[in-house]
Amino acid sequence: MPVETDIFNAKNVICTFGHGKKLVKAIDDVSFGIKDQEIVSLVGGSGCGKSVLAKIMLGLIKPSSGQFLYKGNEIKNLKTHWREVQAVFQDPFSCFNQFFTIRSQLKDSFGIFKKKPSKREIEDRVDQALLAVNIKPPEIEGKYPFELSGGQMQRMLLARIFILRPRVLIADEPTSMVDACVRANILDYLMKIKSELKMTIVFITHDIGLAYYVSDRMFIMHKGKIVEHGSPDDVALKPKNPHTQQLLDDIPDINKKWLEREQKVLNVVE
Ligand SMILES: Nc1ncnc2c1ncn2[C@@H]1O[C@H](COP(=O)(O)OP(=O)(O)OP(=O)(O)O)[C@@H](O)[C@H]1O
Ligand SMILES: [Mg+2]
Repeated sequence: MPVETDIFNAKNVICTFGHGKKLVKAIDDVSFGIKDQEIVSLVGGSGCGKSVLAKIMLGLIKPSSGQFLYKGNEIKNLKTHWREVQAVFQDPFSCFNQFFTIRSQLKDSFGIFKKKPSKREIEDRVDQALLAVNIKPPEIEGKYPFELSGGQMQRMLLARIFILRPRVLIADEPTSMVDACVRANILDYLMKIKSELKMTIVFITHDIGLAYYVSDRMFIMHKGKIVEHGSPDDVALKPKNPHTQQLLDDIPDINKKWLEREQKVLNVVE
């Protein structure tokens, strides 16, 4: 019987920065597997190592020790890796060049492919990607990044994902810069991306309530370690680790009410 290979597989990964007294253990001996088309959330407080782990997944940082594999192999060629593994970050403005129009930059995204589509096809696919995130193409025609709002720019990042159609998407706090309404929208787009493009998604957040809403599995991180993991119901509704409980205490009220309701339903069922 063929053995299913994990999309990502980490074995005893350690990642340190600096030396001597200034040594920081950003990732402290983590092991996990992420399966194809799974949505996994990395949840934890500031500085616990979420973004460092995201950078390891993108091949931007190499572990100091241990083994990190993508589809069973070490990440060697970044260009081929990025054809399949893409990211959306907290600050969409830093991902676009301020001196070129949005449309020209969306078109440039095709540069990563081995075989570039025809000019006509590129224009069509940019239009489709914009429509997928509810932007009418004329709305951004001739516009530069500084002429758009933060929420619109975040949707441009997601449009880029619809263009690139990566196999894996790393979403590092994609909702932290925007208001509640845009945040709900971005989560909906992520769900749409997941169902239409059949992707593996690693969703990074401080907010365990949001993670509960979007994921198949959650990893709770604290000081570079994964201290608890499991299904959203097991982790968020029956937390075992004090750091998970702390994250539950920290979530915004609106998500908390929703979680409490879920918890009551669970208690009735049991
Ligand atoms: N390039 C680097 N050089 C030195 N230290 C680093 C570097 N990158 C990260 N660190 C340290 O590693 C630790 C983990 O950082 P990381 O960015 O992963 O945190 P995080 O969980 O993403 O936090 P936040 O929620 O605030 O984004 C921190 O102590 C940080 O200062
Ligand atoms: Mg971070």
